[in-house]
Amino acid sequence: MLVKSASFVISNTEVSKCPQSKLPEYAFIGRSNVGKSSLINALCNKKSLAKTSSRPGKTQLINHFLINENWHLVDLPGFGYARVSKTQKNVFQKFVTNYFKERTQLISAFLLIDIRHEPQPIDLRFMEWLGENQIPFSIVFTKADKLKPKALERQVNEYSEKLLESWEALPPLFLTSSTNRSGVEELLEYIDSLNIEFQKAQRY
Ligand code: GTP
Ligand code: MG
Repeated sequence: MLVKSASFVISNTEVSKCPQSKLPEYAFIGRSNVGKSSLINALCNKKSLAKTSSRPGKTQLINHFLINENWHLVDLPGFGYARVSKTQKNVFQKFVTNYFKERTQLISAFLLIDIRHEPQPIDLRFMEWLGENQIPFSIVFTKADKLKPKALERQVNEYSEKLLESWEALPPLFLTSSTNRSGVEELLEYIDSLNIEFQKAQRY
């Protein structure tokens, strides 16, 4: 899929203030610093559409981006960032939780995971929560440029084995790098296929 246009729409902490249109949307979630905002920029081929930082905790709000005038990408704050206060953490959890529970336009979540790390309880718990709430999701491994091909394969296999301990089937898995753009096209094609399915379903 060719991204012909990508623009920022709105930032906020309230689901009720998110765009009212019925366009299909896809949300990027995952630990702070995993590369959510960078991947959104890579998908859109725009350097600073979403704000990125080497310091965790950069994205603090629900950010909507309109792509090709017919679907939304959503950049969310990261979880597991220890330096914010407990109160701030609870507030964050509440509005992100509400977003996932209430946003009927959400077609799928993309849970980003740094390919270099072992499976983290916080990510596994979040997947359980998505499952319990019947929110479809894919796993997007990030920072693939940081490992050699053999190590990448080992990490993906180990992660898949861990998932199969508690899931009957694996969700779609993507291996990406915002730095060298590997996997970016595959992810766009996947989103395109979901958009097409969505449009077909609208016709009935
Ligand atoms: P929060 O908004 O804080 O939750 O972080 P985020 O998940 O949006 O991460 P962000 O995109 O801001 O990136 C965090 C850091 O990781 C930045 O220094 C990026 O340059 C770096 N980074 C992101 N993606 C990649 C990647 O694919 N490869 C490499 N090598 N670095 C990356
Ligand atoms: Mg961010």
